[in-house]
Amino acid sequence: MNVSEALQSRISCRAFLSKPVPEDTLKAILAGAAQAPSGGNLQPWWVYGLTGSALEALRVDVHERMQESPRGDGLEYEIYPPDLKEPYTARRFKCGEDLYASIDIAREDKPGRIEQFKRNFDFFGAPVGLFLYLDRTMGPPQWADCGMFLQSVMLLAREHGLHTCAQESWAQWYATIARHIDPPEELLLFCGLALGYMDEQAPVNRLRTERAGIDEFATLVGFQAN
Ligand SMILES: Cc1cc2nc3c(=O)[nH]c(=O)nc-3n(C[C@H](O)[C@H](O)[C@H](O)COP(=O)(O)O)c2cc1C
Repeated sequence: MNVSEALQSRISCRAFLSKPVPEDTLKAILAGAAQAPSGGNLQPWWVYGLTGSALEALRVDVHERMQESPRGDGLEYEIYPPDLKEPYTARRFKCGEDLYASIDIAREDKPGRIEQFKRNFDFFGAPVGLFLYLDRTMGPPQWADCGMFLQSVMLLAREHGLHTCAQESWAQWYATIARHIDPPEELLLFCGLALGYMDEQAPVNRLRTERAGIDEFATLVGFQAN
């Protein structure tokens, strides 16, 4: 699989098979992803990986707490700017609409949407859940470094026949997660990542999201048309 194939075939997988992921495979993916560049070579990423009974214990705990606290433990960082502007608002809206349409959940079916959202906290059935942390003192450049690391994990997963779904939604359970994995106080949870084998039959995995064309985001200066 070349890089283009890995990029093209990476989608956010939201239904996984229970088939386990060998520890050696996960280690190979993480070691490969650690080749991601970072400003000053800080390598600001910290990863916690859960599987088996450890993952199940967290899953049960979060679902129990959800009854009392549907919004989780709160948020340690703003996932989106509070005044998200265009074209981002429209893209975010379409992302949600397309996801729910792919599984026949109507716009007015609020309970259906909530149930789908809650599947985040099952890691969509994935046998492996990763949590990506960075030091609280880090700023935008280091968050970008963590993004490159995350993308590297997702692309290398494809090379191993695996799929992924990055999940910022886990950030709202940062305190509950901490009770299970005990990260140092100075670390802040950026996101979760579901990792496993895709359930090819699941309708939710048929969703293919759109991208703006390069004319919309790139300004090229001084180039000659061929
Ligand atoms: C950092 C990050 C966090 C995300 N968080 C979630 C999430 O919590 N739940 C979810 O279902 N998808 C999540 N996504 C997936 C995005 O919605 C998805 O990447 C986007 O819609 C593009 O679709 P694609 O990944 O299938 O190409 C996240 C993606 C990224 C990069």
